[in-house]
Amino acid sequence: MVNWGIIGTGKIAYDVGFAIQSVKDCELIAVSSRRLENAKKYADRMHISTYLDDYKAMILLDEVDIVYISTPNSLHAELIEFCLQQGKHVLCEKPMVIESFQLEHLKELAAQKQLFLMEAMWTMFVPSVRYFLSHLAQIGDIKMVQGSMGYVLDKERCFKEELGGGALFDLGVYLISLTYAFLGQPNELVMQSVSQKGNVETTAAFLMKYDDAVANLTCSFDVQLDNSFTVYGTKGSLTLKSPFYRTALVQLEQYEASDGDIDGIRNNFRSFGPLKNAPSWKQRILDKLNIGAQKKAIPFRGNGYQYQIQEVVHCLGAHQLESAIMPIDHSMKVIKIIEKLRSKNYEKDD
Ligand SMILES: NC(=O)c1ccc[n+]([C@@H]2O[C@H](COP(=O)([O-])OP(=O)(O)OC[C@H]3O[C@@H](n4cnc5c(N)ncnc54)[C@H](OP(=O)(O)O)[C@@H]3O)[C@@H](O)[C@H]2O)c1
Repeated sequence: MVNWGIIGTGKIAYDVGFAIQSVKDCELIAVSSRRLENAKKYADRMHISTYLDDYKAMILLDEVDIVYISTPNSLHAELIEFCLQQGKHVLCEKPMVIESFQLEHLKELAAQKQLFLMEAMWTMFVPSVRYFLSHLAQIGDIKMVQGSMGYVLDKERCFKEELGGGALFDLGVYLISLTYAFLGQPNELVMQSVSQKGNVETTAAFLMKYDDAVANLTCSFDVQLDNSFTVYGTKGSLTLKSPFYRTALVQLEQYEASDGDIDGIRNNFRSFGPLKNAPSWKQRILDKLNIGAQKKAIPFRGNGYQYQIQEVVHCLGAHQLESAIMPIDHSMKVIKIIEKLRSKNYEKDD
């Protein structure tokens, strides 16, 4: 049995708390808040008996095996460090830290103490996302990625730099993490952003350039975006339908004409010549290319957060100190990308 303690009683603490309670071999045994009434409210709702108004006192409880941290972003590093120092495994909300040097230190500490540490990048464990990542070979060489994550958000912590606010930390991090999972580290980065509130970016568009591909990503607290994620390759495209981070639908479009090769497709376009301005030209091109979409439905169960909890339980059972799907180095590279997007002074790491 894995005994969990939770830090913080905000929105995500409830969602993940329910997820923990739904997973076999897990028990949610304690919660801590800055305020006793919030801790009690959470404990009553979740039917747990131990609630405290002191984060660190909860970490010290002998019966807690693993701590789930759900405070604002700027508080993560200090709390992770305290947990590790006290011999507790940690699952910490994204972004795990707000500066990469913090994670360098925490990675070493976790290894030294032989403790499990993982960022709660829950989308990486959702079955549709696993399916998507394992089927990218079907679309040939990847040339373009387009993804967005945006909805109108009015949560105070999101607009405060001192709490680790900003659209990149809250939303862009999902897009970057997913893109990093199949394209790795970019060669160049560029971002343009605006701030509608506070002193952090609230809407941002950024490009991640690779040797042969470009990722074009957008995130926003100010407007609702499409929230789908598509990878375009030389033989077709693969889309996580909106909302990509919790979807049950993956769509494959393959360019079946011309044996799927991009030169053949270009020739097909050329062969239209003057027809290209005719009213039906788009449809005729589509017909000639024989583009067909296949949709694959993949069950999305519960609130989706249980998939990452299952991974934690699996890793602890197998005495693995890191998840193979979401290792610390993955979180490290993503936080470095965010740092560099913000610094506007990007140089590729070795
Ligand atoms: N995985 C996801 O889908 C997802 C979604 C949203 C957010 N997140 C991440 O989860 C974390 C929490 O997000 P949330 O949306 O749940 O935030 P939230 O609703 O604002 O809750 C954050 C909690 O942190 C505690 N806290 C401690 N110091 C605080 C401070 N100075 N100001 C505000 N709260 C403070 C509070 O709990 P007490 O009063 O009980 O101490 C508060 O309820 C963030 O790291 C965020 O990036 C993840």
